[in-house]
Amino acid sequence: QKSAPLPDDIRAMKGGTPIVSLTAYTTPMAQMMDEHCDFVLVGDSVGMVLHGLPSTLGVTMEMMILHGQAVARGLSRAMMVVDMPFGSYEESPAQAFRNAAKLMAETGAAAVKLEGGRHMAETIGFLVARGVPVMAHIGLTPQSINTLGGYKVQGRGAASEALVADARAVDQAGAFSVVLEKVPATLADEITAAISIPTIGIGASAGCDGQILVVDDMLGLFTAFKPKFVKRYGNLGADGEAAITAYAEEVRSRRFPAPEHVFSDKAPKA
Ligand code: KIV
Ligand code: NA
Repeated sequence: QKSAPLPDDIRAMKGGTPIVSLTAYTTPMAQMMDEHCDFVLVGDSVGMVLHGLPSTLGVTMEMMILHGQAVARGLSRAMMVVDMPFGSYEESPAQAFRNAAKLMAETGAAAVKLEGGRHMAETIGFLVARGVPVMAHIGLTPQSINTLGGYKVQGRGAASEALVADARAVDQAGAFSVVLEKVPATLADEITAAISIPTIGIGASAGCDGQILVVDDMLGLFTAFKPKFVKRYGNLGADGEAAITAYAEEVRSRRFPAPEHVFSDKAPKA
């Protein structure tokens, strides 16, 4: 059995076979994807996907630690990255280090991910110098939804230069990879060519060095809304509702439990 890749191994995949990644929040989901993904992200999307929050802003360190621990128990060969939640790193490099160290120590994550480009470069450098590998996340950064003014495509037209500058800044600061979310495909390709670290696309381009999706989106389990960049590879939500409908009917008609699901009065012979 191959041991889990380290952040430097992911970095070395720049320009090669695309890096495969998904989010996970629970042990069984992590087990399902362990053999197939290079890294698994415990995303703060957990707040919306599993906890019914309206955005990622209400996600806490405690939630990230609990879900990180659950995911870690399901992984043996994929690398695990944990998202730093809103409010846990923006204040200062020292605050970011304290919380990143806590996330890594309590979950066993190999790296953390945080949102931001040029304005987070100092923090990224501070963390990397102190043993915390950092994945950056630029473009649409959902923790800034209230200042971005909605979940719009980022970096169109004249705004593209700022995004290229963000990508270069996180590369130079020492991030080992960068997520590009919801940016024009041509810009994602330009950034991928311009920087030395792998780009991980979500709503970006097939030309990125890797791809990521929210697992509940691609399985059709999260159906409150479907961004254009999501491809549904399954319909587990619909399958699940059909199963629950069948169960409810069988209970109400006393067809469940059947004889094979109940116990006799006599203990079986040993
Ligand atoms: O929280 C998340 O799921 C993410 C990915 C979509 C990149 O940050
Ligand atoms: Na996230």
